[in-house]
Amino acid sequence: MDTALLIEKLNNTHSLNKDEALQLIKQGAQHKNLLFALAQQTAQKSFGRQIFVRGLIEFTNYCKNDCYYCGIRRSNKNAARYRLTQEEILECCRAGYGLGFRTFVLQGGEDYFYSDEDIAAIVRAIKAQHPDCAVTLSIGERSRETYALWKKAGADRYLLRHETADCAHYAKLHPAELSAQNRQNCLYTLKELGYQAGAGFMVGSPYQTAENLADDLMFLQKLRPQMIGIGPFIPHHDTPFKDEPAGSVELTLVLLAVLRLLFPHVLLPATTALGTLAPGGRLLGIKAGANVIMPNLSPQNVRGKYLLYDNKLHTGAEAAEALNELKREVASIGYRIVSARGDYTEEPWTQG
Ligand code: 5AD
Repeated sequence: MDTALLIEKLNNTHSLNKDEALQLIKQGAQHKNLLFALAQQTAQKSFGRQIFVRGLIEFTNYCKNDCYYCGIRRSNKNAARYRLTQEEILECCRAGYGLGFRTFVLQGGEDYFYSDEDIAAIVRAIKAQHPDCAVTLSIGERSRETYALWKKAGADRYLLRHETADCAHYAKLHPAELSAQNRQNCLYTLKELGYQAGAGFMVGSPYQTAENLADDLMFLQKLRPQMIGIGPFIPHHDTPFKDEPAGSVELTLVLLAVLRLLFPHVLLPATTALGTLAPGGRLLGIKAGANVIMPNLSPQNVRGKYLLYDNKLHTGAEAAEALNELKREVASIGYRIVSARGDYTEEPWTQG
């Protein structure tokens, strides 16, 4: 089928088979104006011109894992490690609440210094102080029992990118103790437990093929997550992938638009990695159908230490305190930052 026709069909059916997905991954960039226009139209039907914000608190950069792409992998002896206390995390939330954030994302390496109960206590404390806020966890692969404990403590959402759906590709990015299957199982468990669950992948990670990306789109259609995070791979100088090329901004934008058309209601961030690789990258993400931005709420003194990849943005409009600057930027392309919790819903947007 002609690619423009395929895009129209995707816009009507919100589904793709693998051959169609491959065609869009390979040819989509040639039709990006059509893709981006339809993706924005779809996002506006679901969310109006609202952009949801999430305050990102990167509370530990210790990690027991050794992913080949990641700057905070356990083997990186040059990483300056830090942990935040419960009180420091609560202080970030207080500051964020004052700025208008109503979702806090606790993200960290897989750090067993914090017991399951420690994390549950942190979630309970945030929910007690800010009952009108959502808490999102992003701290890796755990047992069903642990996820259930944290859900009971009040956690609303969980981010766990599947990284790549293909087991052989997964094995080229991770040491043998990690598996694609376990990670995918965690995502199904999180959904079953009632979390709003987020999956996702890097674009242009080493050894990735167009077919791998098509498989990612097939996996996402099976899982049906409420959130999807994607961003370009960016090399980190202290990892085995230091000499690998970064992913393509254009392909990331094409995939954002395809994801928006596949999942009209999904919560889809314009990620920091996209903003790091391209000037105004997060605005480009919104123009390709993204509807979420996640500014950094971590304390100033640790912000430069959560370095998953080189040149990670952590100042300027990336910082939560610079929300006014971000509001102006977003307004300049006709959107507005809102303070709402921004939960997943399939209701169409209607002006309140
Ligand atoms: N480049 C881009 N994204 C990365 N992540 C980790 N390392 C990199 C990198 N070098 C992403 C992974 C992880 C998320 C928290 O950050 O997809 O799930």
